[in-house]
Amino acid sequence: MRIDILTVVPSLLTSPFADSIIQRAQDKGVVAIHIHDIRNWSTDKHKKVDDEPFGGIAGMVMTIQPILDAVNELKSQRDYDEVIYLTPDGESLKQARVNQLSMSGNLLMICGHYKGIDQRLRDHIVTLEISIGDYVLSGGELAAAVLTDAIVRLLPGAIGDEQSALTDSFQDNLLAPPVYTRPANYNGWEVPEILRSGDHAAIQTWMEQQAYERTKSRRPDLLEKDS
Ligand code: 6GU
Repeated sequence: MRIDILTVVPSLLTSPFADSIIQRAQDKGVVAIHIHDIRNWSTDKHKKVDDEPFGGIAGMVMTIQPILDAVNELKSQRDYDEVIYLTPDGESLKQARVNQLSMSGNLLMICGHYKGIDQRLRDHIVTLEISIGDYVLSGGELAAAVLTDAIVRLLPGAIGDEQSALTDSFQDNLLAPPVYTRPANYNGWEVPEILRSGDHAAIQTWMEQQAYERTKSRRPDLLEKDS
């Protein structure tokens, strides 16, 4: 997979991908992540990428020219499955959408800043708008990092233990069960006996029960269909 990200703050997107699973996935050739500075496409003599909004409201809006030129140049080099705009008024990101996007070949993400990008870019070149939750961030960069991380960890070869991604919270609309490691008794804090029983069928049943109970108490909304 290849992921291209357009931003006016490229430095915000270096460290999220420079460690751990995402870095290893890049090293192994599972994914190539390319960060692009939108300013590089600005034809303005001061490399301006924003302007005042029509209508006399406060703030700044990202202009069409640099973003459209960047998108057109990238599109001339390869086809993209989606051109994604990260925005608080987009579709609320859920695991099912992440799973679907993880089947893509090439993804292009646009990070807005200030009051966002000119609506005409959203009307004509954006194919998918994503929000990562009901709160406002300073820009789309951290949201693009969240979306990229969620996608890349699902790619074959990204996670060592291939089973692991399947047992995540949300993959079956359930939260993950509690986990424990050694020592079995830490100054009187005991690991549940069942996990040390060696009875794999009983352990499986216990974990499913725990996942269900945890979901029922913490996120009952997940147990209702299509939530
Ligand atoms: Cl995608 N962008 C911004 N700026 N704020 C957000 C968001 C995105 N998702 C939730 N809040």
